[in-house]
Amino acid sequence: MKAIITAAGLGTRFAPVSKIIPKEMLPIGSKPALELIVEEARLAGVDGITIVISHQKEMIRDYFTSSSDIDFVYQEEQLGLGHAVLQARTDDDVLVLLGDALVHGCSAASEMVKISKENNFASVIGLERVPLEKTSRYGIVKCDDHDTNSSVVTIRDMIEKPSPELAPSNLAVAGRYLLKREIFELLANQAPGKNGEIQLTDAIARAARDAKFGEVKGFVYDGKRCDIGNPDGYYQALTIFRG
Ligand code: G1P
Repeated sequence: MKAIITAAGLGTRFAPVSKIIPKEMLPIGSKPALELIVEEARLAGVDGITIVISHQKEMIRDYFTSSSDIDFVYQEEQLGLGHAVLQARTDDDVLVLLGDALVHGCSAASEMVKISKENNFASVIGLERVPLEKTSRYGIVKCDDHDTNSSVVTIRDMIEKPSPELAPSNLAVAGRYLLKREIFELLANQAPGKNGEIQLTDAIARAARDAKFGEVKGFVYDGKRCDIGNPDGYYQALTIFRG
């Protein structure tokens, strides 16, 4: 299993400082945030880590350049999260970690790997419960009704950033994905979706709807996710990680 960490986004919600420092490199104490995510991936037992960056984010490559288990690929155009993941295409199953999603209080990736191994789950998507009025910020999953209150659910479908009226649940995709290698075939022919972007959510939704890919499970991990892609989430991370 390989890890893919996405860190090629434009950082518009963190402008203007993101013009000179990638949001993923903002400090949490004495470490850049991205280092905490690299540590989470290593702890989950991956064989190597690919970080997806853009040419404006060479600082990330410079910082990690001496780490032998890390390599880099470039997303030349910001065409969406699914497109970013596709740039790191590999023949292995993958653990995808979003570079602006810090999780405190548990190692979400390790927990997902563990439940996947113990139960022989094909794919596991990290989830969190969100207030219904905020569904339009997230990928939202549809699962069986009897599943909605449990921490492990079977995902039947997923919608990227639906309005509350269209949201099939309040279970949101929370920055961590354990995916079978077949996801790359789906991403390679994925049509643009929400906001004209190639969405990872849409490719996983196709896998969830098609039995040949095996069941896609959702797992509500214990930890608290901070979205450091915006100043409020970053301040929250500083407070929580300080303890
Ligand atoms: C991305 C995903 C979305 C997910 C969110 C938080 O959106 O597309 O499905 O819920 O991360 O993990 P973004 O925050 O990059 O717009």
